[in-house]
Amino acid sequence: MTAKKKTAIYPGSFDPLTNGHIDIIERALDIFDEVIIAVLHNPNKKVLFTMDERVKMIKQSFNGSKSVLVDSFGGLLVDYAKMKNAVAIIRGMRALSDFESEFQMALMNRKLNKEVQSVFLMTGFRWIFTSSSIIKEAAQFGGDISDMVPRAVHIKMMEKYPETKE
Ligand code: PNS
Repeated sequence: MTAKKKTAIYPGSFDPLTNGHIDIIERALDIFDEVIIAVLHNPNKKVLFTMDERVKMIKQSFNGSKSVLVDSFGGLLVDYAKMKNAVAIIRGMRALSDFESEFQMALMNRKLNKEVQSVFLMTGFRWIFTSSSIIKEAAQFGGDISDMVPRAVHIKMMEKYPETKE
């Protein structure tokens, strides 16, 4: 009997994808056979990059990886996870400050569907202070963020914010 493929969902806004996200995805691939990066479609959230731009940048960053799939979703995360036959939801943990909201979200997800486990992965030390929002802020005012995001994201960021350093 062949073992069943274990799929995990890595959900988020990814506005935009950072090297911190990539670090988490690489760690998740040590545990799961396949990771689906699921970009949340949330019309109420103000974002810098459109859904198409975010999905495209992620696809470019994982070009050639058969175990990483990129998709978008709306509605409840647990419903999406069920539809994809995923066994787990991956979330990255940086500092302790992430814990409370993540804990709350995980417990709500468990209440909604107890079959999907939340798995928290610790980010590498290098990315402890990395977040999409802080990167956008730095880039907007001409900060050098080139070593914090994949190349595809850096190029797109320079388009949005011409002040961003090459
Ligand atoms: O990158 P983010 O913005 O921290 O990701 C948040 C995300 C997408 C994981 C969360 O907002 C989410 O799962 N939204 C889908 C709606 C949902 O299922 N809500 C109930 C659980 S709190």
